[in-house]
Amino acid sequence: MRLTDHPILGRPDRGRVVTFNFDGGEMSGFEGEPIAAALRAAGVAVHRYTKKHRAPRGVFCAIGRCTDCVMVVDGRPNVRTCVTPLAEGMCVKTQYGAGGGELGSSAAPEAADGRATDEKV
Ligand code: FES
Repeated sequence: MRLTDHPILGRPDRGRVVTFNFDGGEMSGFEGEPIAAALRAAGVAVHRYTKKHRAPRGVFCAIGRCTDCVMVVDGRPNVRTCVTPLAEGMCVKTQYGAGGGELGSSAAPEAADGRATDEKV
């Protein structure tokens, strides 16, 4: 669902429609809008799963401060999708744990002293 008109902000100025890949499937959104907005419009609410408790997380602050919306974008983990503009052909993946690997795999990084990293990215 998208806002088409807002009583204060008016009609949104949208870019052209672009396609991108989300977890292996094709989706579309407006060029330049936050990746998170395109995903939300398509009904996607879960962006990542925490490493320790494997709890789902999605948009929380929507201003780039909390890291709950981080995903793997074009192979790069920990991208804040609420403040990252959507572009044609992006590859967006749900992030598992801190490093983008599968939960419980060695791909998830640990702190330098060997302790598991904090649950937040
Ligand atoms: S929702 Fe908080 S950083 Fe994106």
